[in-house]
Amino acid sequence: MEQIVFLNGRFVPERQAVISVEDRGNTFGDGVYEVVRIYEGRPFQLEAHLARLERSAAAIRLPLPMTPEEISSAARELIERNGCADASLYLQVSRGVAPRQHQFPDGAQPTVFMIARPVDPKAITTYRQGVGCISVEDRRWTMCHVKAITLLPNVLAKQAAKDAGAFEAIFVREGVVTEGSSSNVFAVSGKRLYTHPEGPFILSGVTRRLVIDLARRLGLEVCEAPFTLSDLKEADEVFLTSTVIEIAPVVRIDGQRVGKGGPGTRTVDLQQAFDKLKEGPSGVD
Ligand code: PDD
Repeated sequence: MEQIVFLNGRFVPERQAVISVEDRGNTFGDGVYEVVRIYEGRPFQLEAHLARLERSAAAIRLPLPMTPEEISSAARELIERNGCADASLYLQVSRGVAPRQHQFPDGAQPTVFMIARPVDPKAITTYRQGVGCISVEDRRWTMCHVKAITLLPNVLAKQAAKDAGAFEAIFVREGVVTEGSSSNVFAVSGKRLYTHPEGPFILSGVTRRLVIDLARRLGLEVCEAPFTLSDLKEADEVFLTSTVIEIAPVVRIDGQRVGKGGPGTRTVDLQQAFDKLKEGPSGVD
């Protein structure tokens, strides 16, 4: 059955969901996006994602043409129309269609589209057992808190990881570990959890925030403070978080084993707590 896509207020079969070549998302990467997980047909943490979408749009001075409530109800309808169970929903808003010129166009209507794709449960199980990473220089801009569709440095970093036989590339800016190319990074040392503070150098991950709350509930001390690549390599445990991969233990960095070389106990405790959150009503909105 052909996918149904949401495009500018309409639900259309994927092949009919056509965007102009002059869409500024296409010519300038001038837009913002979100990725939301669907568990058993229910969007997970949708409110948090829509709040971040609003912040991203405001940061690039893009007025959203739909309210969060309208987006939420369109997202739910899309999930329903496609009969999604375990899926990820991609939502993109660009500055619309206009003849190419750098400054904002007058009167262009932003383009909004959403598409839901099934998630491969086997892939998630594999990530859960541990992934390898490489470190790369963080050459991105200083507005990484904006979930912009302009992702070339992230794409190049992820490909470098793949070329090296690794799963993720961990960005390092002036010696400090910031985040992964599409994930946040955590280090565990004893009963302490470290992750880069929010601000212009990382995306404020929805999963990151949930994991911080869960860790505190599990009695871990959470330090949102900068740490170096060598701190990371010497940590007892390292893991990545994102909407798609959830919590993935890092077992190798730059070919070097992390901790005992398998998922650590704190990481596994967090994975289990996260599983409960997914099932329970509090995590699903
Ligand atoms: N990326 N940092 C970056 C650079 C990301 O692209 C992502 C997510 C995260 C994790 O954020 P969250 O927990 O809210 O998913 C951190 C999505 C999944 C993507 O681009 O596909």
